[in-house]
Amino acid sequence: MENLFRFADNNNEDFFSRRCIWVNGPIIVGAGPSGLATAACLREQGVPFLVLEKEDCIASLWQKRTYDRLKLHLPKQFCQLPKVPFPEDFPEYPTKKQFIQYLESYSQRFEISPKFNECVQSARYDETSGLWRVKTVSARTEVEYICRWLVVATGENAESVMPDIDGLAEFGGEVIHASDYKSGEKYRGKKVLVVGCGNSGMELSLDLSNHNASPSMVVRSSVHVLPREIFGKSTFQLAALLMSWLPLWLVDTILLILTWLVIGNIENYGLKRPSVGPLTLKNKQGKTPVLDIGALEKIKSGDIQVVPGIKRFGYGQVELVNGETLEVDSVVMATGYRSNVPYWLQEADLFAKNGFPKAPFPNAWKGKSGLYAVGFTKRGLSGASADAVKIADDISQVWKSETKQQNKRTTACHRRCISQF
Ligand SMILES: Cc1cc2nc3c(=O)[nH]c(=O)nc-3n(C[C@H](O)[C@H](O)[C@H](O)COP(=O)(O)OP(=O)(O)OC[C@H]3O[C@@H](n4cnc5c(N)ncnc54)[C@H](O)[C@@H]3O)c2cc1C
Ligand SMILES: NC(=O)c1ccc[n+]([C@@H]2O[C@H](COP(=O)([O-])OP(=O)(O)OC[C@H]3O[C@@H](n4cnc5c(N)ncnc54)[C@H](OP(=O)(O)O)[C@@H]3O)[C@@H](O)[C@H]2O)c1
Repeated sequence: MENLFRFADNNNEDFFSRRCIWVNGPIIVGAGPSGLATAACLREQGVPFLVLEKEDCIASLWQKRTYDRLKLHLPKQFCQLPKVPFPEDFPEYPTKKQFIQYLESYSQRFEISPKFNECVQSARYDETSGLWRVKTVSARTEVEYICRWLVVATGENAESVMPDIDGLAEFGGEVIHASDYKSGEKYRGKKVLVVGCGNSGMELSLDLSNHNASPSMVVRSSVHVLPREIFGKSTFQLAALLMSWLPLWLVDTILLILTWLVIGNIENYGLKRPSVGPLTLKNKQGKTPVLDIGALEKIKSGDIQVVPGIKRFGYGQVELVNGETLEVDSVVMATGYRSNVPYWLQEADLFAKNGFPKAPFPNAWKGKSGLYAVGFTKRGLSGASADAVKIADDISQVWKSETKQQNKRTTACHRRCISQF
């Protein structure tokens, strides 16, 4: 699959070896669900590819940067990757362990062998050659890969967002991001401030409370909390069904009425609802509604305290915008994630400065000059799967027509050679 020309750097011969590798077919950056789904679809079409992954395993977000009790929050049929449904005996909402197991066997089935520990440092399109130049650094080697197609699959959650809050340096206690939180076990009896009330903030507060810690959850603005199920039916599934018949605003109204019937008025518990409906907000700002799996009950019972925004931290305490001061042992920043694309991709057409494609779904998967984006739809795993199928179809069309022409040329050449004998 690869031609390899190796050339040593004269100055640092012992330290660094530099290589230049031609890749036949596309390079996929990232071996998360999006990268694996694209690779699998390409494999089915007979197109060779190379997957570059900065960590030492597939699905590093799921394996290394998520908490123990995590489950998929949508029913399994909405989270499966192309071509392979989840095993029948998996529950409706598979655990993180089951999801990783599924991804491992998916990867084996399609013979996807990523190059691990290869962090892409830069990628740029070379107008003169019409090729992508992708530089990686691993232990002692710098490699430049050259290819025709580049698939960006580094994810919406590549970097943890750690806000710089006034006085945080003076706090003195442990401060971690949600991506480093595993379980509430070690927080037993501790007062923990959870900053943020997205799906992470809500579930970590629940986990802390289940482990007899005392969580206070910072809610600085507003949040849509929906039950994960409405009258036994998945809220997501219900919304998807309604959306095929009704306009978004009406689906939002129906969802909010049903939510009120199931969980009551969340404003009674210190949570403010946004003025825009949950699906409209998701569409406009990409803000995911929280699917409640128990945190709300804990808020109602007072086991999770809801507090307003932070003014500043002090030694072992936090001052809130309402003037109240809380004693705190530890802080968990459930403050979200960002894309890392702007750090390494030198391109300004498909991707905006924030590392997300400029065009909205479903038009954000393809750029110019053989550039593709998979998994940047703000629609989780189902969005990634839809992208992967389109990207593989697009690349394979060109691949197949060029291979056919090449085969024709080779056959004609063989015929000429044979006739000369
Ligand atoms: C806590 C949590 C729970 C979630 N739960 C759900 C859920 O239940 N359902 C759902 O649909 N979505 C969920 N999501 C959204 C999540 O983004 C997707 O499930 C999924 O992981 C996206 O896959 P991805 O491959 O696009 O990105 P990722 O899973 O983030 O994979 C990207 C890969 O790229 C690698 N990479 C990054 N930069 C480089 C580089 N420069 N060079 C080489 N490799 C690189 C990373 O190491 C990583 O392995 C959740 C997200 C979080 C944070
Ligand atoms: N499978 C699951 O069950 C599961 C679990 C966890 C996460 N996820 C997914 O993972 C993705 C990320 O979710 P997330 O909850 O980690 O991030 P998120 O949805 O981006 O939420 C971040 C939260 O942090 C708050 N915040 C940010 N900066 C703050 C600051 N300086 N002070 C106070 N609050 C601050 C935000 O408030 P504002 O709204 O005011 O900005 C928001 O409430 C989502 O797609 C989510 O659905 C899924």
